[in-house]
Amino acid sequence: MPDTETFPLEWLRHTSPYINTHRGRTFVVWFDGETVQASGFANLVNDLTLLSHLGVRLVLVHGMRPQIDHELTAAGLDLQFEKRVRVTTSEALPGVHSALGKVKSAIESAFSTGLPNTPMSGAQVTLCSGNLVIARPYGVRNGIDFGHTGEVRRIRTGTIAQLLDMGTIVLLSPIGYSPTGEMFNLHAEEIASQAAIELQADKLIYLHSQAPQSSDRLREITAAKFFSDAIQIPRNLTPVRHLIELCANACTRGVKRAHIVSSQTDGALLKEMFTRDGDGLMIHSGTYDTLRQAKSADVPGIYNLIGPLIRDGILVDRNEQDLERCIEDYFVAERDGTIIACASLTLYGDQAELGCLAVHPDFRASGKAAEILQLLIGKAETANCRELFALTTRSGDWFRQQGFEPSSHTRLPPERNQREALTRGSKVLRLTLQARPDQNNR
Ligand SMILES: CC(C)(COP(=O)(O)OP(=O)(O)OC[C@H]1O[C@@H](n2cnc3c(N)ncnc32)[C@H](O)[C@@H]1OP(=O)(O)O)[C@@H](O)C(=O)NCCC(=O)NCCS
Repeated sequence: MPDTETFPLEWLRHTSPYINTHRGRTFVVWFDGETVQASGFANLVNDLTLLSHLGVRLVLVHGMRPQIDHELTAAGLDLQFEKRVRVTTSEALPGVHSALGKVKSAIESAFSTGLPNTPMSGAQVTLCSGNLVIARPYGVRNGIDFGHTGEVRRIRTGTIAQLLDMGTIVLLSPIGYSPTGEMFNLHAEEIASQAAIELQADKLIYLHSQAPQSSDRLREITAAKFFSDAIQIPRNLTPVRHLIELCANACTRGVKRAHIVSSQTDGALLKEMFTRDGDGLMIHSGTYDTLRQAKSADVPGIYNLIGPLIRDGILVDRNEQDLERCIEDYFVAERDGTIIACASLTLYGDQAELGCLAVHPDFRASGKAAEILQLLIGKAETANCRELFALTTRSGDWFRQQGFEPSSHTRLPPERNQREALTRGSKVLRLTLQARPDQNNR
């Protein structure tokens, strides 16, 4: 029987760390004009409303390319583009005005529905918009006069922050005004990235109608990898390559993470925000896991990680009380409030033991264990230890690959419980360290 009753419950429980993490954070969310026209737009509005109710400070940026195309074609005007940039002539301006009015009112009415028996029932969402983007003309380039096409000059972040403080959702349209009072047609994608940078947003999210859906995809890349061309962008991401670049640029300028998610997959935004593996492509500035000393509150998370390995006899048996007793010896890698790796470091004079090394199966073979090992080597060297040893039944080869040498039980420190090591048949591996007194203690 499909477990339809327990699944949502479990899913809801697992969202708690994300709800806590996202509360009070600023997300800039862009969606294209195609998404506004699509039948799934009402569901997307429900999901955005949910985010707002969970305390996320939302700045929405909408596109309107197909709507402008429609208005201009209906008025018998040619669509003029130069390298993806529209030429907005004076004749085209009424069409832009008309598209703007229609798209904005479609979005505002979608956020205003509150019918009983719908996810929007009882929802009171206020959307605010205005002259929040200052523009300048794109000008004449390569002999082409782009007319009323402009680019972002500045975002009025102070006013946006005040609106967000009031609990409203801020809506930015792809329109900006110059100090001379002229209106310019802007790239919505650029407004989103610029707003995210100027607001130092926690997330920049692009919901694109042509973003690949979840299967068979690249899940995350760093901005540095993108710019160094160290990574081959799969073909299915070609339609959103320009967005990857905007995301990577924003991540190098202070935005914590950026995401590209399909607007055609129902619930993809929520999946990306509230599950560990997400549903889209994440771009970030570098390693985004926190590596730190464990605290008592981490005990259940560590036990969740090592429990299955203890039951399989891979790690030494210990319970939550044992962990609690020596929690200051533990170090954890945390992602989005979930412990994904751990290890302990116990000091015995000039020797240190690395124990309880475990990486969650979903995050193996990405260098996580090696990263923790480097942290513990640093700690042991700072404590003037000359050797780091580990006991293992199954991962001897991994330690050898990290430079450890096979050693003997007889060289274990006298205070180390040798009997336990011998009965489990563990192998001892040892790494020579370089003493490195802590700079702060000098
Ligand atoms: C051993 C363990 C910590 C490695 O974690 P990890 O994050 O995948 O390690 P890294 O990413 O740094 O290294 C991955 C490499 O080590 C290899 N590797 C992983 N486990 C290995 C093992 N038991 N023996 C030999 N090689 C192993 C992987 O194949 C990979 O090699 P590749 O890069 O050539 O593909 C992880 O597999 C684990 O949690 N195992 C269960 C617990 C355990 O055995 N702990 C050690 C006892 S203290």
